[in-house]
Amino acid sequence: MNLTVQPSGPLRGAITVPGDKSITHRALMLSALADGPSRIEGYLDGGDCRATISCLRAMGIEVGVQPEALTVHGRGLNGWREPDAPIDCVRSGTTMRLLAGLLAGQPFYSVLSGAAQLRRRPMDRVTQPLATMGARIWGRDGGRRPPLSIQGGGLQGATHDLPVASAQVKSCLLLAGLYAQGRTVVVEPGPSRDHTERMLRARGVGVESRDLTHTIGGPANHLAPLDVRVPADCSSAAFFIVAALLLGDSNLLISDVGVNPTRTGLLDALAAMGATVEQTGPRDQGGEPLADLRICPQSLRGAELGGNLVPRMIDEFPILALAATQAEGTTIVRDAAELRVKETDRIDTLVAEMTKLGADIQPRPDGFVIRGPMPLRGANVDSHGDHRLGMTLAIAGLLAEGQTTVHHAECIADSFPGFAETLRSLGAEVTV
Ligand code: S3P
Repeated sequence: MNLTVQPSGPLRGAITVPGDKSITHRALMLSALADGPSRIEGYLDGGDCRATISCLRAMGIEVGVQPEALTVHGRGLNGWREPDAPIDCVRSGTTMRLLAGLLAGQPFYSVLSGAAQLRRRPMDRVTQPLATMGARIWGRDGGRRPPLSIQGGGLQGATHDLPVASAQVKSCLLLAGLYAQGRTVVVEPGPSRDHTERMLRARGVGVESRDLTHTIGGPANHLAPLDVRVPADCSSAAFFIVAALLLGDSNLLISDVGVNPTRTGLLDALAAMGATVEQTGPRDQGGEPLADLRICPQSLRGAELGGNLVPRMIDEFPILALAATQAEGTTIVRDAAELRVKETDRIDTLVAEMTKLGADIQPRPDGFVIRGPMPLRGANVDSHGDHRLGMTLAIAGLLAEGQTTVHHAECIADSFPGFAETLRSLGAEVTV
């Protein structure tokens, strides 16, 4: 499927964006482990979370899907059933890595696989530390890649010093810690998103966090069922934040956005570049902070971005790169080698596609350098099957002179179903 985008005027009005992907995955999995039913409102009905639902169903969990809410009939920590076929995580890295931790604790055999894109992604970051907890877990390429096969049970707590800040790895190990004898300690090198810790606590499991060290004592007895409302995904809001900052005379309100500080690095990066996104009505919803965001155009200047900011905006670098093409001066992104192991190698694919639009962007082993401001020209570009790259290119098309066509745009629905419709609701000319 292709998305064709025409240059756009200002974005004025109010929108909401779909529910948070990370929180929806975790709400599904923890509800499936709880003793009894949980209701999840505001959930993300995207490809990645659908993959999690079908994986849970394969293990005997009943999940009711209604437009207003998911209902998950939890069977307790030890009530999952051995799946009778390989479990398909499709393109969702979060599904595979978090489930690997849970399945390492289950006393049965399971196989986790997925689409070609996911089968290329590194899994040794979870298989190795799980093995130190006594897990019997194997993967293709010496445990490095999916499919993974797991004979669960018999875990012992261990201390893990993570080489990269990754919420997926941290969550995998804390979830395995639910089943391990003794303490499981995860020490991260930087602050990754903390939804798993917050949600485990909300369901009655003690997880202690001191700075970047997280400890869980196992085995856990039970998880309480819980009704939750998922905030709008700040990583999806990011595309509209940058669009409204760059399109003159815009005035955009995005409501009910999750503003957990482990996720709002983009707002800090934009502040370093000279732009303020106004947050109003701060509130708490089920243990997660929320706010409404108002965005008006502002001029940007180049900045150097790296260090602990990186894990706090790891999914926002494609759209940040677009902002940097319109900033005065040079933007340098470093310490972001993790971008190379996302849905695509996001450094190489970003450089290739943004160059087609006329951007001055150079790759580095751990990031990129962009010189701006640079006028963009419409072009034929490709998402490479990466939802965030696809959306970045579509937003670039709003700014570019002439028409832009984003090829292989169907992947956008992995995290943002209704992306084109939301753009159209603000007057943009987008056709499928
Ligand atoms: C996620 C963590 C991040 C992020 C991904 C979702 C999560 O990955 O890029 O989109 O839900 O835990 P890493 O943990 O690999 O950094």
